[in-house]
Amino acid sequence: MKPDFDLQRHNTFGLPARARWSAVLSQPTDVELAWEKAQSLRLPLRVLGGGSNVIFRPFFDGIIAMMEIKGRSVLGRQGEHTLLQAGAGEDWHEFVLWTLSQNVPGLENLAGIPGKVGAAPIQNIGAYGLEMADRFHSLLAYDLENKNTIVFNKDDCGFGYRQSVFKKAAGRFIVLSVTFAMPNDWAPQLSYQGLSELSPDTDPQTVAQTIIALRNGKLPDWRKFGNAGSFFHNPIVESAFAAELRKTHSDAPVYPQQDGRSKLSAAWLIERCGFKGSRLGGVGVSERHALVLVNYGDGTQEQLESLADNIKSEVLARFGVVLHQEPETI
Ligand code: EPU
Repeated sequence: MKPDFDLQRHNTFGLPARARWSAVLSQPTDVELAWEKAQSLRLPLRVLGGGSNVIFRPFFDGIIAMMEIKGRSVLGRQGEHTLLQAGAGEDWHEFVLWTLSQNVPGLENLAGIPGKVGAAPIQNIGAYGLEMADRFHSLLAYDLENKNTIVFNKDDCGFGYRQSVFKKAAGRFIVLSVTFAMPNDWAPQLSYQGLSELSPDTDPQTVAQTIIALRNGKLPDWRKFGNAGSFFHNPIVESAFAAELRKTHSDAPVYPQQDGRSKLSAAWLIERCGFKGSRLGGVGVSERHALVLVNYGDGTQEQLESLADNIKSEVLARFGVVLHQEPETI
C-alpha cells in the first residue's frame, strides 16, 4: 500500500485527485487482502480499472486498488463457440487485438474502447452494433459481502443497455476474470450505419481497423483532451413519446428497442440545446461529438458537474427528457 496517491494519471478525464491509500491487485487473493485491510482501517475500498468511467472528487478518503490481474488464454471449443478467458486487469483494446491475432474473431466491433477487461461486464460496454453481452460466457468475481469467489453465468448477470447486476450492486462484486464465447461461424456485424460500406465478405482485421478509424474521427483522444467517452446514456422512452418528438423534430434519431420502447440520441438532444463546442472554465462539450464532455487541461470535477447539470436541466426543460450520467463520481 502506498499513502497519498496521485490519481490524475489514473483517470481518463485527467482530473486532479488524490487517494489516502493505493494498492495493486496482481492476483485474485490480493482482493481479499485489500478488503481486510480496508475493514481494519475502517476505510472504503474502490477497485479501479482503466479509470475511463469515473469522475474523481479531489480527495478519496480510502483505498484505491488498481486492478492488475493479467492472463489471456484460448480455452478451446465448446459446441458452436470458442471460449477465451482474460484477467480483469488486461487492457480491453489490447485484448481485442490479441483475440484477432489468435484467429478467434467476434469482438472486433468493440476495438478501441478504453478501460480494462474487468470493467467491461459492469456496464456491458457496447459500440457499433455489438454489446459485450453478445459475446459473454461467464465471469469469476470476489463477493466482498460473503467473502467468497463466485462464478456468474450469462443469465445471472442481468445485462441490459449499459446495465448489469454488478452495476446495481455498486462495488460488492470484484471481477477477477471474464470468459467470452466467440461464434465459430464468424460473420461481420455491419448493422451500424458507418459500417455499411464494408462488404459482407470483409475480414475481422478490416472491421477492427474501420472501427478504430471511425472512433478516431468522432471521439476526442483522452490522452490529448481528457474525457470518458459518452457522458450520458442514450435515453430510453415510451415509443409514443418518441413519435411526438418526431412530429416536431423530424430529424431526431429514434431507435426502436426489442421491448417496444425507443432509444433517443442524447448527443442530438444536447446539440439541439446549443451545447456542442461550449465551454465552462476548463471543461466543455466536444466540438466533435456532443455526448463527450472534455477536460481541456485545467478543468475540475466541480466544473464538470456544473456543466453536466446545465445540460441535464436544459434537455429536461426543452424536451422533457431526463439524462442519466454514465461515469460514476467517486
Ligand atoms: N449526433 C448528433 N450530434 C453529435 C453526435 C451525434 O446529433 O455531435 C447524433 C447523430 O444523429 C448520430 C447519433 O447522434 O447519428 C448517434 O451518434 P453515434 O453513432 O456517435 O452514437 P451515440 O449514440 O452518440 C453510442 C455509444 C458510444 C458508441 C457509439 C457507437 C452510448 C451512451 N454511447 O453513442 O459509446 O461508441 O454509440 O456505437 O450508448 C461510450 O459509451 O463511452 C461510447 C463512446
